[in-house]
Amino acid sequence: MTTIPQNRLNGQVALVTGASRGIGRSIALALAAHGAGVALVARDGSRLTAIQEEIEARGGRALAIPTDLAREEAIQACVRRCIEAFTRLDILVNNAGIGVFGPLERSRTQDWDRVMAVNARAPYILCREALPYLRQHPPSFIINISSVVGVKGYARQTIYSASKHALMGLTKALAREVQEDGIRVHAICPGGVATDMIQQARPDLDPEVLMQPEEIADIVLFLVTRRGRAVIDQVDVRRAASTPWG
Ligand SMILES: NC(=O)c1ccc[n+]([C@@H]2O[C@H](COP(=O)([O-])OP(=O)(O)OC[C@H]3O[C@@H](n4cnc5c(N)ncnc54)[C@H](OP(=O)(O)O)[C@@H]3O)[C@@H](O)[C@H]2O)c1
Repeated sequence: MTTIPQNRLNGQVALVTGASRGIGRSIALALAAHGAGVALVARDGSRLTAIQEEIEARGGRALAIPTDLAREEAIQACVRRCIEAFTRLDILVNNAGIGVFGPLERSRTQDWDRVMAVNARAPYILCREALPYLRQHPPSFIINISSVVGVKGYARQTIYSASKHALMGLTKALAREVQEDGIRVHAICPGGVATDMIQQARPDLDPEVLMQPEEIADIVLFLVTRRGRAVIDQVDVRRAASTPWG
């Protein structure tokens, strides 16, 4: 991958959901390392504060904004807090996600509601709340972290897969809706990445054969430092050996 100059995002601001661990933490660290101020969003405030301190210790700018993305008012408050602190927003990364895995017949409607709220409804609300700010500084970016499960179907992952398919539809339609405003909307569809989530879904898998969160962060950096007008709906990313989601 082309080397990206370390100060490429100086003066820009990113809001990253699910920044407390896994893929979101890596994305937040990478954006901060390249000069962006980063609003760190997830529920676990102490983890977010530790990441904020890590970024600040390296000379970067970050702010922990503990937020439950299942609650609409909390999402709206977190966007307001980001703007109060940083005055602008250039990059929205909808990364937070949860999964419920198992046969459909054993699932409950509340599982559906919970997964949809975090994986599909929260990105929708965040896009809506962020767009007025993203419009002010084109080119600006919305990066939705979907999954290979948002494109294919896998047994025992019906609810998770439905939520990621919803996120893909949101991405594709919004990409066209705001293209002329200089806002680029992309989805990244990873296969297996070594994080807590895959440990929960597939404890039998060896983390060594999976992708690392930093590899997804590299792709986010590539997308947000591109200056072209091309719409990239979907970036599929997997290791050949990354079973089963490959
Ligand atoms: N790992 C994989 O193999 C893989 C593959 C394809 C796609 N993905 C996608 O990548 C994204 C990140 O996953 P990951 O693997 O890094 O998972 P992870 O390690 O389990 O992290 C999930 C993140 O989402 C946050 N989150 C969960 N519920 C939330 C809520 N109600 N409000 C606010 N934040 C919430 C968590 O923070 P708190 O607990 O602090 O709230 C955490 O930061 C997800 O969208 C996932 O679907 C993962």
